[in-house]
Amino acid sequence: MSGENPILVEVEGGVCWIRLNRPNKLNSMTLEMHDQIQEAMDKFVDDAEVRCVVFTGVGERAFCAGADITNFPKLSPDDAKEFSKKGQKTIQKILGYPKPVIAAVNGYALGGGCELATACDFRIASEKARFSQPEISLGLIPGWGGTQLLPSIVGPAKAKELIMTGAMVKAPEALQMGLVNEVVEPEKLEEAVGALAQTLVGGPSIALRKTKKLLNDYANLTEGLSAEAKAFSELFSTEDTREGVAAFLEKRKPDFKGK
Ligand code: COA
Repeated sequence: MSGENPILVEVEGGVCWIRLNRPNKLNSMTLEMHDQIQEAMDKFVDDAEVRCVVFTGVGERAFCAGADITNFPKLSPDDAKEFSKKGQKTIQKILGYPKPVIAAVNGYALGGGCELATACDFRIASEKARFSQPEISLGLIPGWGGTQLLPSIVGPAKAKELIMTGAMVKAPEALQMGLVNEVVEPEKLEEAVGALAQTLVGGPSIALRKTKKLLNDYANLTEGLSAEAKAFSELFSTEDTREGVAAFLEKRKPDFKGK
């Protein structure tokens, strides 16, 4: 897939499909991909023909394995704040988008991938889906909204467990905790998502828009996201974060010292 665009955008039957297209890197997200997602969403925001957006991942294995970690060793705390804010802008665009957004979770949804999915209005998962906020294993915290989004869906107790342990959750457990709306066989995922999308496309778009706006609490979210970006940035001046990221890239276990 190298050389291809990392984001594929296609409109069909009133639905805009946005596919993350770096399967060899488990669709981990670069800043360029955020720019492209934001551009695609802006392009269709006032287009009455597009009434629903779906995010999914190309390939068999991943929806999105989070932020592309390869650039983390170079990030200063200031860069890290920019990095966090860039991802949060995508998340806020989805949350504030005046049309329903569905995550078709075809595999790993980790870190930023889990945050992308949790920003969506619906999550339909394949039986192969796996969810986690694994940043703690890098000596980090979620930086694209996870500290605010996950508790709003699964409750604070479960969110703390997931974010503080980095535990990985399989699709049936995700369904049980309300993290996903439905779990389907992998080969039925696009069909199930397509059916939900068509229900939404045929729905009253103004009532759907107002429902979404009322259910997403902007006041607290704005404050929470800003505090998250600040904390994410501060961690980039700690030894533990440098060690956690280096350990991942060197494919070894991190040795955290509390510094
Ligand atoms: N950033 C950059 N590259 C990533 C990535 C990420 N978040 N997640 C996976 N990749 C890359 C791997 O480095 C590997 O590339 P390579 O073939 O060039 O070495 C490729 O994707 C396949 O992943 P690999 O780790 O070899 O697959 P696996 O089956 O052994 O493990 C995971 C799968 C998802 C458990 C593992 O890739 C992982 O833990 N990824 C990081 C998840 C994470 O911490 N995300 C939060 C970021 S803040």
